[in-house]
Amino acid sequence: MIKLYNRDIISALDFDRETMDYLFYEAEKIREELSMKKILDYCKDRVMVTVFLEPSTRTRLSFQFAMTRLGGLVIDFGLEQAASIAKGESFEDTIRMIDGYDPDIIVLRHREPGSARKAAEIASTPVINAGDGWNEHPTQALLDLYTIWRELKRIDGINLGIMGDLKYGRTPSSLSYAISKYDNIKIYYIAPRELQIRREVLEKIDKLVEWKMVERVEEVIEELDVLYVTRLQKERFSDPSEYERLKGSYKLTVNLLKKFRKIPIIMHPLPRVDELSQNVDSLPQAKYFTQAENGVYIRAALVKSILTK
Ligand code: NCD
Repeated sequence: MIKLYNRDIISALDFDRETMDYLFYEAEKIREELSMKKILDYCKDRVMVTVFLEPSTRTRLSFQFAMTRLGGLVIDFGLEQAASIAKGESFEDTIRMIDGYDPDIIVLRHREPGSARKAAEIASTPVINAGDGWNEHPTQALLDLYTIWRELKRIDGINLGIMGDLKYGRTPSSLSYAISKYDNIKIYYIAPRELQIRREVLEKIDKLVEWKMVERVEEVIEELDVLYVTRLQKERFSDPSEYERLKGSYKLTVNLLKKFRKIPIIMHPLPRVDELSQNVDSLPQAKYFTQAENGVYIRAALVKSILTK
């Protein structure tokens, strides 16, 4: 198991399965404790700063809720437009300055791939990568696996379909890295050819999991235990006409799912746009809102493990 105390969390490749399993049990314990008491004291007198330089709802809020539930304090950097970045301050200077205020943990989201690693090199405070451009989103992968573990009572032997914008998405890469630490995993990458998974991701998991690319979900749906849907990452398209062309190229609906004998559990990191119809929500297999709730507990488990010995 890796030592989490005082550690930066930059890539899902850094986790091993013992560490992830440990965090799942820790999250269950915290969930149980929070059912009896609203605020715990594991992180009393500790300070988290959340720096989200790209839009976020769930990740920012769930980190803030997690730290608050652990009895810690949260300071939010606020909007980029309102900060000195808007006056031309560099990323490096901003991070150096935040670090100088001596927080106990920095949670960072930034549009540049590699920005979290760069921040970790500058700051003496532990940095958690909450999404660096299209690259990675390691704590989303933790909550994704925690959800699979809770719903299916296992991760080994899972057939996972990851559908959508696998090229520009950071959740498909981190989820692939994290699940590759388990045994007998098969991943189906389901996407139009233009949006297929990046080569560098396949290179990293190639020896660890079986994988296959397909264009249509219908080809594999009955083999899946989990179908993980992602939205088209509009903000990362350099050519708006390419976005328009690919918009609507995949969509999960209840009519499509009901054609099959077996419906896998349906997950989505959210936000959804057009790729996941609201009529799927009422199926017992729809787990994306539960998945989002799980984020608070697994992030609390992670933050507690980084901040306490
Ligand atoms: C994801 C992200 O930010 O990468 N959202 C999230 O953190 N739950 C997915 C997305 O934005 O599509």
